[in-house]
Amino acid sequence: MNEDGVRKQKETVVIFDTTLRDGEQSPGATLNVDEKVEIARQLSRLGVDICEAGFPIASPGDFEAVRRIAEEVGSLTEGRKSGQPMVIAGLARANKQDIKRAYEAVRVAPRHRIHTFLATSDIHLKHKLKMDREECIEQVIESVEYAKAFCDDIEFSPEDAGRSDPEFLVQVLEQAIKAGATTLNIPDTVGYTTPEEFGWLIKYLIDNTPGAETVIWSTHCHNDLGLATANTLAGVQAGARQVEVTLNGIGERAGNTSLEEVVMAIETRPQKFDVKTNIDTTQITRTSHMVATYTGMVVQANKAIVGANAFAHEAGIHQDGMLKNQQTYEIMRPETVGLHASRLVMGKHSGSHAFRVRLEEMGYDNLSSEEINLAFKRFKRLADKKKVVTDADIEAIIADEIYQPPEIWKLKKIQVSCGDHSIPTASVHMIGPDGKDYRDAALGTGPVDAAYEAINRIVGVKNRLTEFNINAVTEGLDAVAEATIRIQPYNGESQYAFNPQTNQPVARTFSGHGASTDIVVASARAYLSALNKMLAARVVESSTVEMVAG
Ligand code: KIV
Ligand code: ZN
Repeated sequence: MNEDGVRKQKETVVIFDTTLRDGEQSPGATLNVDEKVEIARQLSRLGVDICEAGFPIASPGDFEAVRRIAEEVGSLTEGRKSGQPMVIAGLARANKQDIKRAYEAVRVAPRHRIHTFLATSDIHLKHKLKMDREECIEQVIESVEYAKAFCDDIEFSPEDAGRSDPEFLVQVLEQAIKAGATTLNIPDTVGYTTPEEFGWLIKYLIDNTPGAETVIWSTHCHNDLGLATANTLAGVQAGARQVEVTLNGIGERAGNTSLEEVVMAIETRPQKFDVKTNIDTTQITRTSHMVATYTGMVVQANKAIVGANAFAHEAGIHQDGMLKNQQTYEIMRPETVGLHASRLVMGKHSGSHAFRVRLEEMGYDNLSSEEINLAFKRFKRLADKKKVVTDADIEAIIADEIYQPPEIWKLKKIQVSCGDHSIPTASVHMIGPDGKDYRDAALGTGPVDAAYEAINRIVGVKNRLTEFNINAVTEGLDAVAEATIRIQPYNGESQYAFNPQTNQPVARTFSGHGASTDIVVASARAYLSALNKMLAARVVESSTVEMVAG
């Protein structure tokens, strides 16, 4: 209410999702182009306002992903509270080559943005950029003006703002506004600040930068001290009206602010945060799961909002309280975030029409007839084994069957023998890139190890398994198991990729996922999916490094 007792409209906080850019920069979160497009579609359903689709100059693959997202997702409005399609943003360093490339990638989206950045902290200026403050200001003006000639919607970020001199920041940001920036994003790049400091910084910049009222102020916090969400919310309380976030908080090092935490804090504590968002919170669980599956970055069980235990009550005293009144131990209803939203619920009598309709209702409205038929066959096989097939099972089928890297090697059959009285043995039958059949067998320490050894004998690519996870998609002994794994190549040409933001080579990890009611089959599919990604990356990598470095 305002002073006259009139109910005040809450202002909207713009949700800028950078899962596909900063999130994908986390070691091992490599996504292929199809996976990125599919995640972007889901971000659109979730209600994200701005999707930072990637860093187009970083590689031809990054460029292609941003371009395809702009083209295929940049016009979608279905189910969106705002009624508007997402703005598609591309990241660019503050130089002409990057900015032009970013524009070329996003331009086909009806609503597009160029996001350009330059570091402003003395430590970055001196050691990384080797420039003084004056040169920094000049480069900001030149870059923002150059970007403005391409499009109206320009975001500028003074990288490492959290450790920059606030008075210098005011000077830089004033010039960025004059040059045409429409959003000013304040990154705590190394996750150094505390909520009090970060809130103070946002307020100081808004209060002191000439022209501040003409732009949107934004937060971009990293989680090195576990303070990213707290800092972001402090920024909102200080006047920021855009927050940069990722699903599950993935991102460089300890990650970025997590979308679900900020959105649910705003939803759950309306008295504390006098703002609203355009997010459809019931899509949170599904989006989180998709991001975890495709990136191979499994969510810790006790993660707020989306962890497996986030709504589980184990202690007897808690269970007793919950039975008497849910509010005793629950501040949000699980349904609000889309947990247990649909237990429906198809079975072996469901026909292809019902299956197709269900897929559409779930948002899979872009599958070809061939893909739907493939998924339907898998569904039928599953329904034969399992009485009820839930939405979660269908999601696992789609992820396993459709959103996989191009199959360089294909798994045809696998058989294992194991137990505590025999040496685990696996035999596999695969189809190679030449279309020929390959068969081999191997021993291992367990059935999965034996399966991997047998696959290795055929594919012959040395790698190191860095992570292996297996989860049941639903409850019960007949549940579909979903395996997520990560591998790294041994020393070789594809061990490194180039991070243009830091100008450093980075270790490369490849993730894979697979689903089946049989855990060995799920694990073998996941392993092959990661191997196929690794092999595909080998082909394009050398051109990537040359282009960025040159
Ligand atoms: O953390 C950071 O500073 C960034 C910028 C590119 C916004 O990711
Ligand atoms: Zn960042």
